Amino acid sequence: MKQVRMGIIGFGAEGGVYAKFLSEGKVENMVLGAISDSDPTKKAAARQIYPDVPFYDNYIDLLESGDVDAVVTCIPHFLHPEVGMEALKRDIHALVEKPAGVYTKQVRELNELAAAKPEVTFGIFFNQRMNPLYQKLKEIVENGEIGAIRRTNWIITTWWRPQGYYDQGAWRATWGGEGGGVLVNQAPHQLDLLQWICGMPKKVYSNLKYGYQRSIAVEDDVTAILDYDNGATGVFVTCTHDVLGTDRFEILGDKGKIIVEGSKKATIKRLNKTENEMSSTMSQHEVMRVTMGPNPSDIYTEEVLEFGSQWGTQHIAVMENFAENILEGTPLIAPGSDGIHGVMLANAIHLSSWLGKEIEIPFNEDLFLAELNKRIEEEKANPIKVPIGGVSANG
Ligand SMILES: NC(=O)c1ccc[n+]([C@@H]2O[C@H](COP(=O)([O-])OP(=O)(O)OC[C@H]3O[C@@H](n4cnc5c(N)ncnc54)[C@H](O)[C@@H]3O)[C@@H](O)[C@H]2O)c1
Repeated sequence: MKQVRMGIIGFGAEGGVYAKFLSEGKVENMVLGAISDSDPTKKAAARQIYPDVPFYDNYIDLLESGDVDAVVTCIPHFLHPEVGMEALKRDIHALVEKPAGVYTKQVRELNELAAAKPEVTFGIFFNQRMNPLYQKLKEIVENGEIGAIRRTNWIITTWWRPQGYYDQGAWRATWGGEGGGVLVNQAPHQLDLLQWICGMPKKVYSNLKYGYQRSIAVEDDVTAILDYDNGATGVFVTCTHDVLGTDRFEILGDKGKIIVEGSKKATIKRLNKTENEMSSTMSQHEVMRVTMGPNPSDIYTEEVLEFGSQWGTQHIAVMENFAENILEGTPLIAPGSDGIHGVMLANAIHLSSWLGKEIEIPFNEDLFLAELNKRIEEEKANPIKVPIGGVSANG
């Protein structure tokens, strides 16, 4: 195989972007092999834009067509594990969009199947892992350069979405269609990076607001308190109603601190001694004199990293890394099996809010699913979202 023939499953907003990248030759070693979408209007659009690219109404037909070596799942989240598994079963490489699924039980099945088929490539579309800034920070934390983690704080409220965004598709922001709100749709990138760089928390306690500033059933405002195995704590805040959004990630270690602003600039402060050593050997005045004086380097050094990346380059990089893995065995930066961690965190945060208590990870997955299904059933009887051109059943 010289080039990977990629099949796009779901020719909506994201599938359309990937088809364009591929057809314009922007992804090295990968071409557009075929497209599938169950919506006839998408079929008409695909036929018009890509008349020479085979189109399938049913994604199983695409998988069995012989037109593709790999697929990417640009369809609603609930379907990601199912489509991923159908592809892997047929030895078609699967690049699963984020989130890996809506609930861990479903994603676990996908991971188990993929583990039994190591010869087939299984990746997850975590494009923000391609940001060199986060790759560098992961290295710094793993090398112990800021010592043992004591606190993680991420305020990521740059996911502003107007009501019109939610109203553009019936599946959006519903329990039955998406299985959640900002935690499931927008924040999976940060939930993944947080655990990728700092490890998984052991417990979470959360305060979520559902339909707080938008006419939706699911959460649009999240505050979660995290507890790690080593005693470290953290706070994760996200929402979709802050038009002046903040993206600030801080990692405090016992030998330094990382402050990331806007996912573009990181300030890394490395202490010369651990904070405990300083505490037992230095007075408050001594430390203040140095930090506020002309030579703070007597206590710590500071490095500033800045990386800018053009929109779309991270997505292209994910596809190129995926193709290189298929063709040459280059390690994946986002292996598919990693997708479960972010789903687990999101599920735990939901469960904590639903039960009103702290949740230990791993949690009871059957209980989570029962609680999710309860909300899906309630929503069927009493839909909250305003249908396009219609009025909410709740007035
Ligand atoms: N990695 C990223 O940066 C990123 C960005 C946006 C979206 N996404 C993910 O991509 C997925 C799709 O999002 P979107 O914004 O493109 O949604 P969308 O609603 O614009 O598109 C979804 C498409 O899937 C089609 N579809 C639904 N069921 C199908 C089926 N059974 N077979 C074939 N097609 C089917 C729909 O007709 C629609 O065209 C989501 O899971 C989302 O989380 C990822």
